[in-house]
Amino acid sequence: MEAFVHQRNPSSILEKRFDYLVLVPAAAAVAYPFLLMAFHAIVGTQAVTPSPLAIVGATFILATAFVVPFLGIALACRPAANPGSRRLAYASVVSPTIYVFLGVVQALVRSPIPDEIVWCVMWVAIVIWSQSARDTVALPAPAVGRWRVVHGVTAVVLCLYVLFHLTNHLFGLIGGPDAHAAVMKIGRVVYRSGIGEPLLVTTMLFQIGTGLYLAWRWSAAAQDFQRTYQVASGAYLSLFILGHMNSVFIYARSFLGIRTDWNFAIGAPTGLIHDAWNIRLLPHYALGVFFVLSHLASGLRVVLIAHGVDRRGADRLWAAGVAMSIIVSTAIISGMCGVRIGALAS
Ligand code: HEM
Repeated sequence: MEAFVHQRNPSSILEKRFDYLVLVPAAAAVAYPFLLMAFHAIVGTQAVTPSPLAIVGATFILATAFVVPFLGIALACRPAANPGSRRLAYASVVSPTIYVFLGVVQALVRSPIPDEIVWCVMWVAIVIWSQSARDTVALPAPAVGRWRVVHGVTAVVLCLYVLFHLTNHLFGLIGGPDAHAAVMKIGRVVYRSGIGEPLLVTTMLFQIGTGLYLAWRWSAAAQDFQRTYQVASGAYLSLFILGHMNSVFIYARSFLGIRTDWNFAIGAPTGLIHDAWNIRLLPHYALGVFFVLSHLASGLRVVLIAHGVDRRGADRLWAAGVAMSIIVSTAIISGMCGVRIGALAS
């Protein structure tokens, strides 16, 4: 049953003041492409050794860009936020992947309007929508039991592909493009087969649909940090996978007619770091890997608690999962940026 009670929220009657904190996630999201532009202005297009000051400045700016989604998660936890403001905060979590999606769609439609302008207009529209949404009171835990089970079961199936796919990318760090290509060749026999690929894409789309539905329902009311994190990481993943499949199937394979190999992934020949467009792929991929693994850890935590595992133990396991997600994400991105384990050892 629908968890909303369509009546005016008593707090909104008493409190007519505008909540300025609402604008913080939107302002952070608007600033996001400009942070990447500032990063590019410092590192430039040449792989020359930068000055220590340039390294510190560029690192600080990139780190600030990474703060945007986490600021969104923190603001989505606010109990005082109305549903529109909370969903706005969740939307800002998704901004690194939406910015890539937007860039690809802009290229597909050969838009003459710069991405940054479309981006700013889009965020103004999202703010207006979020604040004009009907102010409803929602039950803290919506009745979505069956959908949660279905979403969890398909996640287990998709795990097989995701774990293979991420291991495949880790081979870039270990053995470079050749090792990555060799592992991909083996995997493609299954996931790009006549049965495997349609099955994978359909299941992914189903997962996105159920994930977005659950995120919409849970985002109606304030949740504890763990639930907010689970909803936010799931929202990121839904848009990440949709945009990623658009890039692979429509943009690369159909529109450009290029192979979706290592060079495609790292934005060769310029790479991820020194290209004004490609730099947006760095947070997009890093957070994609981080959120998919930590979202799985969040799901496991819920299942364990539901089966009687002590909450503190489940939380500790979740924290270990998050730490592992950071390590795997850093390893994959390092490999994509040219780091090789063999080179580090010698
Ligand atoms: C560093 C992060 C990632 C990179 C660089 C990356 C890159 C790629 C590349 C190059 C392909 C084409 C594969 C091929 O031609 O055989 C691909 C396909 C795909 N990726 Fe990723 N990926 C990443 C993360 C993810 C994650 C986290 C997911 C899911 C949660 C995902 C889902 C998919 C799917 C569904 C396909 C389509 C598979 C097919 O070709 O049939 N990717 N990815």
